[in-house]
Amino acid sequence: MNGAVELPGDKSISHRYAMLAALADGTSELRHFSAAADCHSTLNCMKALGAKVKVDKDTVRVAGSGPHGLSSSWRALDAGNSGTTMRLLAGILAGQSFSSKLTGDDSLQKRPMKRVIAPLREMGADIRGRDDNFAPLEIRGTKLKAIDYQMPMASAQVKSSVLLAGLFADGITSVSEPTRTRDHTEIALEEFGANIEKNGKTIRVRGLGAENGSGKLTAKSLDVPGDLSSAVFFLAAASLFPDSNVLIHNVGLNPTRTAILDVLAEMGASIQMLGLKSSQGEIIGDLAVKGASLKGGVIGGERIPLVIDELPMLAALGPYTEEGIEIRDAAELRVKESDRIAALAENLRRMGAKVEERPDGLKVAGRHAGKLHGAEIDPRGDHRIAMAFAVAGLAADGNTVIRNADCASVSFSTFFAELNRLAER
Ligand code: S3P
Repeated sequence: MNGAVELPGDKSISHRYAMLAALADGTSELRHFSAAADCHSTLNCMKALGAKVKVDKDTVRVAGSGPHGLSSSWRALDAGNSGTTMRLLAGILAGQSFSSKLTGDDSLQKRPMKRVIAPLREMGADIRGRDDNFAPLEIRGTKLKAIDYQMPMASAQVKSSVLLAGLFADGITSVSEPTRTRDHTEIALEEFGANIEKNGKTIRVRGLGAENGSGKLTAKSLDVPGDLSSAVFFLAAASLFPDSNVLIHNVGLNPTRTAILDVLAEMGASIQMLGLKSSQGEIIGDLAVKGASLKGGVIGGERIPLVIDELPMLAALGPYTEEGIEIRDAAELRVKESDRIAALAENLRRMGAKVEERPDGLKVAGRHAGKLHGAEIDPRGDHRIAMAFAVAGLAADGNTVIRNADCASVSFSTFFAELNRLAER
């Protein structure tokens, strides 16, 4: 693997900028906005809610009319495959003066929404879902009251949903997380001018219309950093081949996202961070990666929420490591875009790996269990499974075929072209 790669804009940050820009007064310019289908689901929802959205390559201009400028959509808002769109938007819609219906694709309609329904209800929201847990969600907007919410789970989406609802509440809403999760919502809220405070694992946001609230959000001109969760596929691919030399430009290196770099480094990967700079509250830099012999190891506990999206790639590296890779405490993987534990176990076995599947993780045997062979992979419509197995397939004996591989465009539409460009044969 040799060469330089530019990544799509960070998916998590793109969602948040799009939503906050639609609630701000004036036109925001969002550069290097993610081309991911998920982020375009968010843009389409904000458009359906009355924001003016113009897309010019990867620059997106969003004209908002202030926090009360959204209007009801005559058709259901479609979050597509995107849990972030649905859960964060539910927080915003709960505080509007109109009703909305939020839906998504088959996968999203199977993912748990009770985790946002419950705290939003505590704030006074009127939300209904199928079996009180699944989309489509019907949200009758109302005046919200501020709450102090102790999150029962480590989820950036739940935290963000409550904080965004907090913008429309009558006082100060606080959210305490059991362990740290990505903090892009907090950073973006501050950038757009909300009144927000962090203290350890507790975050407080003041309602825009509350006493001493800022009253409004201000349109911004912002650059979205490259998506580290997408970079990980190239970090992994480059690590697998001894003479690799890959440079990844402009990657978001927010410390709540970089735990995967520590994990890979502990496993023996050769990754260097270069040219770090701070940009609009986020940290950006380049990553240089070389081939290395990976040791493997066990990962679990408080680290899991910080590497949750990188676990498919990590698990698929297992058979190429000395000791194998064991993932614990990651039951959340079962309620992602697919049941990622089952999808990983099944497809790794198809390639000849030795895998033990557990309720909250899996144990993948290392090199001693034999080399992987090419196989037909069923990514179950899950972008990260498709990309992880493309990388595993590169280093396997023989050809690997990934069915319905275009699901990768949920987060990275040019992934296969980029991988092919860097692979020297
Ligand atoms: C995300 C949070 C994580 C992550 C998802 C994006 C976000 O989900 O898996 O891909 O942008 O807030 P959870 O909050 O469900 O852990």
